[in-house]
Amino acid sequence: MINTQTEYNFLSQQAKSTPPSLIRAILKAMQDDEIISFAGGMPNPISFPEKELSVSMQNVVKKFGSKVFQYSITAGLLELREYIADRYNRKFNLGINAENIIITTGSQQALDLLAKVLIDKNDNILIEKPGYLGAIQAFSQYQPTFHPITLENDGMNINELNNLLSNRKIKFGYVVPNFQNPTGISYSKEKRDKLYDIIKKNNFLLIEDDPYGELRFEGEPLPYIAAGDTQNSVLLGSFSKTITPGMRLGYMITKNDDIRIAVNTAKEAADLHTNIFAQYVIWDYLINNDFDAHIQKIKNLYKIQSTAMIEAIKEFFPQNIKYTIPQGGMFLWVTLPEGLSSMKLFDIAIKNKVAFVPGDPFYVAEKNVNALRLNYTNASPETIKTGIKRLGEILKNYTLM
Ligand SMILES: Cc1ncc(COP(=O)(O)O)c(C=O)c1O
Repeated sequence: MINTQTEYNFLSQQAKSTPPSLIRAILKAMQDDEIISFAGGMPNPISFPEKELSVSMQNVVKKFGSKVFQYSITAGLLELREYIADRYNRKFNLGINAENIIITTGSQQALDLLAKVLIDKNDNILIEKPGYLGAIQAFSQYQPTFHPITLENDGMNINELNNLLSNRKIKFGYVVPNFQNPTGISYSKEKRDKLYDIIKKNNFLLIEDDPYGELRFEGEPLPYIAAGDTQNSVLLGSFSKTITPGMRLGYMITKNDDIRIAVNTAKEAADLHTNIFAQYVIWDYLINNDFDAHIQKIKNLYKIQSTAMIEAIKEFFPQNIKYTIPQGGMFLWVTLPEGLSSMKLFDIAIKNKVAFVPGDPFYVAEKNVNALRLNYTNASPETIKTGIKRLGEILKNYTLM
């Protein structure tokens, strides 16, 4: 057993202030093939273009030889950064170039590096309530004071935000503007505009984390809140949900040179550079294939799966259960009647062979919250229907308790 007495406790305050991932514990608790799981957060394997990636692997070895196996520069492969800049300029008119981009080891690393270069202990930072657990984990290491702002169906509650800003200096805010993890909600154009004004007026930094933006299967794409338009903006992106999470390729875009240079230095200290072979392979894949057609295939599938889940919820869940209707991405969010605990529901659900992620890890302070996350990207429509029916039956008994 590990001795946690002070004299044997070698961990830093930072390490002690980082919560372990409950999700990993949950995934471990359900290693049972009969369980229908809506708990994971994995992309469907349809999004891995295996044949094309295998061709690209051979291409880059043939074309570039030892370069793909050698150490490389910290900011990342220039050609890949140019491709990303060009794509964002075409789609969102950001006016960026390769200089504004650092390739990171997944966007998760960008969160960790940003936390490292931005947060002094007790700095005030804004997050969404509920918020992305991986960001809460990354930020917690540097012991900020979290200020979670309630997330509504169209984005952060603006009154709550203004109240907070009236008596506090905020270092940065962190938002997932499209198909948020865990709720699946997206910010409306009005809320985006309001937030932009608030950032400018109060002069704090906004980190927009957008790994799911390409996966819109309903409605029109919306402009980013602050990306490209201001020194107070950092935008994160990723190839994890559109090509492969296993190669761990993400990126940070910012016009703020101080932040970019500090992140570059922190990255040098962390891992020198992101896997250069993976960068060459993804770049070769992008320039030799129809990336948009590939994304369309993923979106078509996710739309079928999310529709199957929503239809089943309508059919099998009690009327007093609320849920979000995502326009893209991988998750939806279910809210139980006030006072019910999704943690307790989880234990009953596992016994009945269906799983989800209870809401607790997506909050900084609350315990036994009455909400939960469902993922729909890894089950067939038939399995989704069976699983939601099981959950509906449990909910009927549970909400009567
Ligand atoms: C909102 C959000 N940000 C970042 C990440 C990390 O993604 P990556 O694989 O690019 O590190 C995830 C992964 O699930 C996510 O949901």
